[in-house]
Amino acid sequence: MTAYPKSAALMARGAAFLGSEHAILCGAMSWVSERNLVSAISNAGGFGVIACGAMTPDLLDAEITATRGLTDRPFGVNLITMHPMLFDLIAVTARHGVSHVVLAGGIPPKGSIEAIKAFGAKVVVFAPTIALARKLFRSGADALVIEGSEAGGHIGPVSTGVLAQEFLPALADEHIVFVAGGIGRGEAMAGYLEMGAAGVQLGTRFAAAAESIAHPDFKKAFFRANARDAIASVQVDPRLPVIPVRALKNKGTEEFTAKQIEVAQAIDAGTLDMTAAQLEIEHFWAGALRRAVIDGDVEHGSVMAGQSVGLVTAELPVATIIANLLGECETALDKRLQFA
Ligand SMILES: Cc1cc2nc3c(=O)[nH]c(=O)nc-3n(C[C@H](O)[C@H](O)[C@H](O)COP(=O)(O)O)c2cc1C
Repeated sequence: MTAYPKSAALMARGAAFLGSEHAILCGAMSWVSERNLVSAISNAGGFGVIACGAMTPDLLDAEITATRGLTDRPFGVNLITMHPMLFDLIAVTARHGVSHVVLAGGIPPKGSIEAIKAFGAKVVVFAPTIALARKLFRSGADALVIEGSEAGGHIGPVSTGVLAQEFLPALADEHIVFVAGGIGRGEAMAGYLEMGAAGVQLGTRFAAAAESIAHPDFKKAFFRANARDAIASVQVDPRLPVIPVRALKNKGTEEFTAKQIEVAQAIDAGTLDMTAAQLEIEHFWAGALRRAVIDGDVEHGSVMAGQSVGLVTAELPVATIIANLLGECETALDKRLQFA
């Protein structure tokens, strides 16, 4: 018997799909979502996802093995579609019999969904439009995450509230759709679940959890920040293929502007083409995020955080965060029913 019967009923499809107790995913966060946080999330009844980021196949192999050593519950692996060794990374997940692979960062390249499904794993994708989502479902994707611009990390231009109103009525009856971006409390979960979401994905709320290996200064920056401090990066040159990143404003924000000018000048000089320019920008972010998360350089590093950072005020164990979310969600659903 669950302590959260209404929430459980609304999350039943999502939980069955994930094989977890609750349909609450901790979205992959590069450098943060490694064995400790991922296993803690899954052990607490949520669904952890390893962030492969720029890892080599060998590193991913070691991370999956280590995570398996810490939990016997299901967890996923998030692969970035533009990774030059994407198919080798898929082969690693296949060797381990990983149950869920999340393809992030762009449209899945030809053959990638098929390669994952070939070893029996479920494929989770992102899509910025309903048309693309339908196409990916037709290509074999099993679930979709819609992620609004309130989120931390790389973001699209549309808010979660609007994406939910567009995508959920169109897709949620037939397909598994998880909602991400800006969720900090259970009341917001309740709203999206009632709209048809199969579950929710959070990142910012978990990044500063007790089990997260993020540097204490990274966590302190989260506790101090307000929603308005988590700002989206600006694109200084319209030619540059810069995907905006939401992070806490600091000196690194200005350094990114300088980096873009440097890359634009290299394009003008003919020493970089557009693909190389995009890779250079992505390497900048990967390095800057590592500096903040691992080294604790919260001035010059990239403290990626969503607007829900204003709701993160203390270092709590993952199990407490999940229990709080579910308690708030259940209370919100109870209140609604009182007036029904
Ligand atoms: C520090 C940080 C790093 C992230 N890195 C990744 C990543 O490597 N791959 C990815 O698909 N999403 C990444 N995200 C997005 C999360 O997986 C998640 O979808 C997002 O945080 C949800 O929105 P929220 O931050 O408002 O909870 C990152 C988010 C943060 C805060």
